[in-house]
Amino acid sequence: MERQAERAYDIVLFGATGFTGGLAAEYLARNAPQGCRWAVAGRSRVKLEALRERLGLPELPLLVADSADAKALGEVAGSARVVVTTVGPYLEHGEPLVAACAAAGTDYVDLTGEPEFVDLMYARHHATAVASGARMLHACGFDSVPHDLGALYTVTELARRQGKLDGPVAVQGFVRAGGTISGGTLASALLAFSRPRQMGRAASARRAVEERPAGRKVGGRMSGPRWSKDAHAWVVPMPTIDPQVVLRSAAALPEYGPDFSYGHYAAVKRLPIMVGGLLGVVGVALGAQVPPVRRGITRLRPSGAGPDAATRAKSWFTVRFVGESGGVRIHTEVSGGDPGYGETAKMLVETALCLAHDELPETAGQLTTAAACGTALIDRLVAAGIRFRVLDAPPTAAPGR
Ligand SMILES: NC(=O)c1ccc[n+]([C@@H]2O[C@H](COP(=O)([O-])OP(=O)(O)OC[C@H]3O[C@@H](n4cnc5c(N)ncnc54)[C@H](OP(=O)(O)O)[C@@H]3O)[C@@H](O)[C@H]2O)c1
Repeated sequence: MERQAERAYDIVLFGATGFTGGLAAEYLARNAPQGCRWAVAGRSRVKLEALRERLGLPELPLLVADSADAKALGEVAGSARVVVTTVGPYLEHGEPLVAACAAAGTDYVDLTGEPEFVDLMYARHHATAVASGARMLHACGFDSVPHDLGALYTVTELARRQGKLDGPVAVQGFVRAGGTISGGTLASALLAFSRPRQMGRAASARRAVEERPAGRKVGGRMSGPRWSKDAHAWVVPMPTIDPQVVLRSAAALPEYGPDFSYGHYAAVKRLPIMVGGLLGVVGVALGAQVPPVRRGITRLRPSGAGPDAATRAKSWFTVRFVGESGGVRIHTEVSGGDPGYGETAKMLVETALCLAHDELPETAGQLTTAAACGTALIDRLVAAGIRFRVLDAPPTAAPGR
């Protein structure tokens, strides 16, 4: 805190002119506490002025910076206690800002779901951030907050029932969601799909430098597609960034017990939907390998476009968890509205507000939301309308919609 006491702003939101950035700016305008000093940043002054007018905040400070301009990003990082960025794809635009925040001791929050980017940033900037005291939080939207904090919530509830977790702890998460995606999400997903070899190399670079938890076991445990009684649905393993994030939290926090495993699944009601979904993902992944096909798919939804308010209002998500340890088995659930945008803007901004204003454990370097913010962020999200609850009995029916 001391190193940042003189900063002009508590929070700077970079990418505020984009689709998700605009929703995050609206959320901040409605929910920033009295006295919170915040500003918006982007590459176009004209677009920032239009945003300021839309928000009805004529005094809102504007910072102009391009994602490739290290000097301008250094000034953004030096002006803020927390920088939030929605400028993606992060593999294309993200690293200079990570470097600037790590060097300046500025807390950093983003929305990336790109594993290669997160691993590269760990290998290249984690040590600098540890030295400067910067807290670097990636994946602070639907990827991966409900999964990360839901697993923490489940483990906390297991420990409450058992006293202490001193044996193996197994958690599984089952994700159901309804909604559509934005141009920025489509471009980022296609870019990530097109780089499987680079993703593998970045994961190896990370493994070479990352310490493992001493005296504790933490690992993934996924089974194949199947009918799950726990989820009351067909489930298929989901090798996204989410299980990686959950396992990083488990590695960082002894509260997850001496031997923690996690499995992460997409859940659907009907078998044909599961088969169709799998074929669709394989088709997009194959198409992403061919640059003209990738460009063609990207053009279907350009940057700045996303679901309208009526579509977002009908969108929803539910993540059910099953936690087991020492013969105790519990079911928990995290749920909310539009996962990709409405709730993502909420999760992103509440993470930034939590870093800026809450009493948190002393941490630094690349961190997960569970490790940096823990239950303080769960409390914020609950207050903001995202539900965390323990289910008394195993679910026997799929959620309403
Ligand atoms: N974790 C999650 O669950 C989650 C959810 C939603 C989105 N996301 C991710 O968030 C990112 C943004 O998505 P989106 O749909 O909001 O994208 P978008 O609408 O395309 O917005 C992109 C933003 O980046 C800015 N930008 C592009 N190039 C720039 C540059 N050279 N310098 C400075 N700014 C630049 C754009 O500025 P202009 O307005 O000037 O073009 C715009 O503000 C994507 O990577 C997406 O995958 C993640």
